Amino acid sequence: MNTKPNPLAAPLTLPCGAVLKNRIVKSAMSEIMGDRGHGPTPELHRLYSRWARGGTGLLVTGNVMVDRRALGEPNNVVIEDDRHMEALSRWAECGKANGAHIWVQLNHPGRQSPAFLSPEPVAPSAIPYASDLKRAFNTPRSLTDAEILEIIHRFAKAAETVKRAGFTGVQIHGAHGYLVSQFLSPLYNHRTDRWGGDITGRMRFVLETYRAIRREVGPEFPVGIKINSSDFKKNGFTEEEALVVIRALDAEGIDLVEVSGGNYEAPAMMGGRKKEGTPYFLAFADQAARTVTAPLVLTGGFRSDEMMRTALCETAVAMVGLARPLVVDPELPGKVLNGNTVTSTVRPLTTGVKLLDRITMLEITWYENQLRYLGMGQEPRPHENVYKTVWKILSGMGTMAFKRRRA
Ligand SMILES: Cc1cc2nc3c(=O)[nH]c(=O)nc-3n(C[C@H](O)[C@H](O)[C@H](O)COP(=O)(O)O)c2cc1C
Repeated sequence: MNTKPNPLAAPLTLPCGAVLKNRIVKSAMSEIMGDRGHGPTPELHRLYSRWARGGTGLLVTGNVMVDRRALGEPNNVVIEDDRHMEALSRWAECGKANGAHIWVQLNHPGRQSPAFLSPEPVAPSAIPYASDLKRAFNTPRSLTDAEILEIIHRFAKAAETVKRAGFTGVQIHGAHGYLVSQFLSPLYNHRTDRWGGDITGRMRFVLETYRAIRREVGPEFPVGIKINSSDFKKNGFTEEEALVVIRALDAEGIDLVEVSGGNYEAPAMMGGRKKEGTPYFLAFADQAARTVTAPLVLTGGFRSDEMMRTALCETAVAMVGLARPLVVDPELPGKVLNGNTVTSTVRPLTTGVKLLDRITMLEITWYENQLRYLGMGQEPRPHENVYKTVWKILSGMGTMAFKRRRA
């Protein structure tokens, strides 16, 4: 038991005036629990009730799509209009129990929509995938100016719907190689019009999206972003450019900036080649936090109360984001806030065969199974054998298993 004042328990006031009850964020994890019409299900309600009870200050939902023609996964929730209002409102209520905030992560996959869902995905530019991902994703076509404006409108309309449903904020998914991140990256944005070129052109899409959302939800509703520190690819989006974008969003009044990194081709957000034991992207997050007024969340790699406290005490980071640790232990925040010494059981997962790990996307699919248990009202199974996941994928879904992906 640690008796020193706990920095993780301190409330945080956002630029818009909203107050988060503590410094722990449940980062977005795609639950793939939408129904056939892409509405929220009772499983989602159950999952978020459990997380809310666990003591987390801010719950960010898994990515919710703004266009049913552009999905990241088959069971995504989609918000285009009021058709799912009742189930959305129930979701918001479940998340808010126990004084937590619940924000919806809004996303458009752009080129990162699997081939079996999108015969012709759209993206800033028609850049094909390289290497082994070529079979899973079709080459996108380049968006027209009118289509870009329409997608911005969709983000804004979805945010307005989210607010009316009773959620307490929204987060733009600007990381991990999805559409917003594609616009930012010189690797995926080769446009020569106002949406491309130097960083001023490439960040126009995210700035216009933020402005359109803000116009719809007003000055007092939290609007945040999850953004890459870098693509982790040669000639990609750099840390210097990420700082320019974060500063620009800060000047516009963004409420919370969550730092992550990477994409399908370079999955730094899941740790990449990083050794366990230190948070990912820490030096960048500290540097970014020192140059903006918006509070900054760092996500990735936090595995103990000590790591979390140290990040808050020794850097300018304001909040810590947790994903996998809250799947295997939804009550972890409460334990940490009560001063307990906590170490997560999360470790890198492997079958021992690298190729098998990669084609089954083990580091994601194992956690999806765990989310399913929680959604069914069961306990997580932190010691479940990885071969059970592999078997489920290979036996249950056949060739779909190799196609059905995101991050
Ligand atoms: C099953 C699963 C689904 C995820 N889905 C999303 C998502 O929808 N949006 C997002 O921004 N990040 C997503 N992530 C990434 C996490 O938010 C987080 O950045 C990453 O897992 C690193 O944090 P951790 O080390 O605490 O797990 C997902 C991660 C997992 C394991």
